[in-house]
Amino acid sequence: MAEILVLYYSRSGATAELARQVCRGVESIAGASARLRTVPAVTAESDAPARPVPESGAPYATLADLTETQGLVLGSPTRFGNMAAPLKHFLDGTGSLWLSGALAGKPAGVFTSTQTLHGGQETTLVSMMLPLLHHGMYLVGLPYTERALNETRSGGTPYGASHVSAPGSAPTLTDTEKALAQALGRRVASLAVQLSRA
Ligand SMILES: Cc1cc2nc3c(=O)[nH]c(=O)nc-3n(C[C@H](O)[C@H](O)[C@H](O)COP(=O)(O)O)c2cc1C
Repeated sequence: MAEILVLYYSRSGATAELARQVCRGVESIAGASARLRTVPAVTAESDAPARPVPESGAPYATLADLTETQGLVLGSPTRFGNMAAPLKHFLDGTGSLWLSGALAGKPAGVFTSTQTLHGGQETTLVSMMLPLLHHGMYLVGLPYTERALNETRSGGTPYGASHVSAPGSAPTLTDTEKALAQALGRRVASLAVQLSRA
């Protein structure tokens, strides 16, 4: 069994919705299951979360979630073309795993949500890839053999899944955004299953 950690930060729910679609893709692969986790918000002064567990939704991630799982799909809303601080804060705490090589050789993919079509989806996706490369993870993208990538007029990129959100309204993913988020989950999960059998 290959378990895939779907780890995200989301303030207004759009990236969380993408994460749920990634989980659907993971769970559609025989021998794979998804573990959904989030990270707490940070302030300039906080090292520990204000609450030990979130009021609702996915539990907060720990380093054990990274070591116990066989793959990772990482998601963040865009913040000025970059990943959001809470996710970066969590990743900055993974130095011990880098030292031991605990994540080396595991597959990983990334996803994001922006407010505008050209507001930095690709740069945010790449910003999340950089620490994963340092950890030695195998990066998985989305190929144009996924039909939805040719058809989308909203989110979805070769670098990872994405969504273009409407300000002030509940997140509504388009069919192509959903299809590509699920495809990303499937691709990471099927590679993890293959690697676990090798
Ligand atoms: C501080 C800040 C910076 C942002 N920067 C960008 C940006 O560079 N480009 C963009 O399109 N949207 C930007 N946004 C909008 C969010 O990325 C967008 O609303 C996203 O869908 C929110 O995801 P969430 O619902 O998961 O929190 C920014 C929002 C905030 C609060």
